[in-house]
Amino acid sequence: MNRPLTVAVAGCGSRGQDTYTKILLTMPEKARIVAAADIDTEKLAGMRRLTGIPESACYASAEEMLLRPKLADVMLICTPDRCHYLQAREALLKDYDLLLEKPISPTAEQCRELRDIAVARGRRVAVCHVLRYTAFYQKIRELIASGVVGEVLSVQAMEQVCYWHQAHSFVRGNWRNEGLSSCMILQKCCHDMDILLWLTGQHCMRVSSFGSLSHFRSENAPQGSTERCLDCAAGESCPYNAVRFYLDEFRRTGDEWPQNVVAFEPTEEKLLAALRNGPYGRCVYHCDNDVVDHQSVSLELENGATVSFTMTAFTAHGGRTLRVGGTMGELYCDMKANTIKVMRYGQTDEIIDVRTLTDDFSGHGGGDARLVHEFIGLLRGEADVSPTMTSIERSVESHLVALAAEESRLNGGKVIEL
Ligand SMILES: NC(=O)c1ccc[n+]([C@@H]2O[C@H](COP(=O)([O-])OP(=O)(O)OC[C@H]3O[C@@H](n4cnc5c(N)ncnc54)[C@H](O)[C@@H]3O)[C@@H](O)[C@H]2O)c1
Repeated sequence: MNRPLTVAVAGCGSRGQDTYTKILLTMPEKARIVAAADIDTEKLAGMRRLTGIPESACYASAEEMLLRPKLADVMLICTPDRCHYLQAREALLKDYDLLLEKPISPTAEQCRELRDIAVARGRRVAVCHVLRYTAFYQKIRELIASGVVGEVLSVQAMEQVCYWHQAHSFVRGNWRNEGLSSCMILQKCCHDMDILLWLTGQHCMRVSSFGSLSHFRSENAPQGSTERCLDCAAGESCPYNAVRFYLDEFRRTGDEWPQNVVAFEPTEEKLLAALRNGPYGRCVYHCDNDVVDHQSVSLELENGATVSFTMTAFTAHGGRTLRVGGTMGELYCDMKANTIKVMRYGQTDEIIDVRTLTDDFSGHGGGDARLVHEFIGLLRGEADVSPTMTSIERSVESHLVALAAEESRLNGGKVIEL
């Protein structure tokens, strides 16, 4: 292809604007943003400033943009979880290729339907399972495929959401309530289900799960706490104090995530107003949240291997860890530390420092940028489908496993056959 691919962005928030648009702007010879849609006029104005697109190319919603004849080669769907299905369906019927944010949809039927439409119409859909594109997980996959640990039979994985990230996104924020987004194990951990299947190269046969919303409930509110942190007498000793999270952090770090989620292009005044009136100033014990704050999942894979996965809010720091137990050796992998310890049985251990493998640890360990580059390269005919590619055909299984885990959790840990 000797012209840049044209791109329309649906949803110009943290992912659509702050992540993917900024990455696309670094590759103008390959891709050019030509249209954008958001229901928030401030964010659309931000897109215009960032990309230079005219007002006539801005739409008041993705639905409105999708009423127009096809505007671009590719559409990025970066709207809230419950918008994805209808928007992606319409975009596929208009023959857009899609970069589709996860989750594909909150229901198994809709995930399968979108996959089937994409296949029937020959469209490319990449689901944003960004972990696959990180140097960290790519190295682990290469090690497993090389046979260094023999046959993988036992895996333990942990997603440390971290106390403040749970409070930000899953108690106060956009993903706090299943009815507004989807269940935690799908929206947050479809990435983990995807990476575990991808690393082991296996399909999942059976699932069971336990978990609950234990802590972020009104009965656990400290004595004297109020509905908003700005007014709270208990704020000094509360680790979830929003004033400390957002205002103090803004003073320390400036316009960074997550302060720029609380207020678009934040200033102290904007943040104070958001803490006074918006969702992020609420006491974590007085929110309309219902998603779990800890959940464990057991998977049985087709070769009999067992995987245990834990997602928990109750960690001091964020990050993912993974222990891979094989017949000839073991891997211990720590994404935050960027280290992979290779322990061949009976031999000296080796530590791989992932920082020596790449310089790019921007968004999601470099995964955001590599996903965009790989997908655009594929659409431009510059690269074949790589084993990494998170096509919708391959990504649906992670969603089905996560939804089975949720069904199990809601049924007292009942085993769900896949
Ligand atoms: N792949 C990942 O690792 C990853 C990380 C974070 C979020 N996500 C997913 O990305 C999606 C977007 O998340 P975000 O963090 O950018 O949220 P966000 O709230 O920052 O952005 C969503 C944007 O969509 C806009 N919007 C809402 N309804 C719309 C409509 N009908 N038409 C057009 N715009 C509309 C909102 O105004 C907002 O600007 C979510 O589905 C989320 O689960 C994925």
